[in-house]
Amino acid sequence: MKSKIIVTGGCGYIGSHTVIELIENDFEVVILDDLSNSTEKTLERIHKVTGVTPAFANIDLKNETETNKVFVAHNDAKGVIHFAAHKAVGESVQEPIKYYKNNFYSLLNSLEAQSKNGINNFIFSSSATVYGTPETLPITEKNETQRPFSPYGNTKKIAEEILDDFTKSNEAFSAISLRYFNPIGAHSSGEIGELPSGIPNNLMPYITQIAAGVRDKLMVYGNDYPTKDGTPIRDYIHVVDLAKAHVIAIKRLLKNDQEKSLEFFNLGTGLGYSVLDVINTFESVTNSKLNYEITDRRAGDVPCLYASTDLAKEKLGWTAERELSDMISSSWKWEQNLRNESK
Ligand code: NAD
Ligand code: UD1
Repeated sequence: MKSKIIVTGGCGYIGSHTVIELIENDFEVVILDDLSNSTEKTLERIHKVTGVTPAFANIDLKNETETNKVFVAHNDAKGVIHFAAHKAVGESVQEPIKYYKNNFYSLLNSLEAQSKNGINNFIFSSSATVYGTPETLPITEKNETQRPFSPYGNTKKIAEEILDDFTKSNEAFSAISLRYFNPIGAHSSGEIGELPSGIPNNLMPYITQIAAGVRDKLMVYGNDYPTKDGTPIRDYIHVVDLAKAHVIAIKRLLKNDQEKSLEFFNLGTGLGYSVLDVINTFESVTNSKLNYEITDRRAGDVPCLYASTDLAKEKLGWTAERELSDMISSSWKWEQNLRNESK
């Protein structure tokens, strides 16, 4: 019999790619999503890629009663992968309460409802933002965490502390917090990818929208950082590599292979690319020219972030396999398909 996994936020960007990998690894998937930043069309897209339409419940995890009900209905599930959260950094600075409410209520309701129903395995979507401005590079899991610049980032840091308290209080419960660096890219089929609503905040969707003619010009936020070309350096990771790491992590919990009741892993490639590297690679992969202009720094940006990938390699046996050019070409393929669909 297939093991059932509940995926909160499974209609979103990283969630949908993870659902595909779970299905391909013979798991049964139930998606819980309120579609606040996604659409039900994702289910069709997942079906196109895998031939399977996962079970879906349109629920807001902030609602405790509804969350309890759905976990009772799926109390045969073996674990939860929790993606559901709001994630727009700038908006979180404007509307912190919205972010603290959504990201904490959904986490707390999930934890309570699942543990009441004997579902004791939990994977959490964290972020490299918990490291703040790192003092040493590459960033290992032993680097101190710092209060992140934004309320969004702070929800990730505090969520990890909540998980620490909860796993200590509940012996049966195990959790893995995966700290993503910069996820970009899309499924190789071009059928599924990131769907930013409104003006994208992140670099990659902004670039593909410029190339598609949806936006006019990329503003490069500063070229006076202490890096090789003055633009900030990030560890971009292909979303499919990231999705595969979730499957490995949930299997680790299901096999009871974890060494501690709460483990943390960085998910990155270990390589750093500057904003200009990304622009230049995009231009060479797509044989096009991007319209961009250097402007002021963006508040909260740190000069350089890249992961040490040793721990994930040693304990999970996972390393990212896809290169920057794959990340870019798959993002571009997805953007083009999306534009063709809307014609
Ligand atoms: P996304 O917005 O595409 O997906 C999140 C999904 O959760 C959406 O489908 C949304 O509708 C759903 N959701 C939000 N609040 C909900 C609620 N109260 N009840 C039910 N569903 C709800 O985001 P993503 O990029 O796929 O990110 C997934 C997770 O990874 C998030 O927790 C995010 O903070 C984290 N993360 C993302 C990045 C990134 O760059 N994308 C980096 C680090 C961490
Ligand atoms: C951002 C968030 C981070 C979050 C992550 C994933 C901030 C300060 N950080 O990371 O908390 O976990 O997204 O959602 O928002 N850039 C431009 N022009 C643009 C967009 C981006 O020059 O229009 C540059 C940025 O200055 C940065 C790099 O591109 O140096 C990557 O930016 P982005 O994709 O937004 O990711 P992060 O800032 O690393």
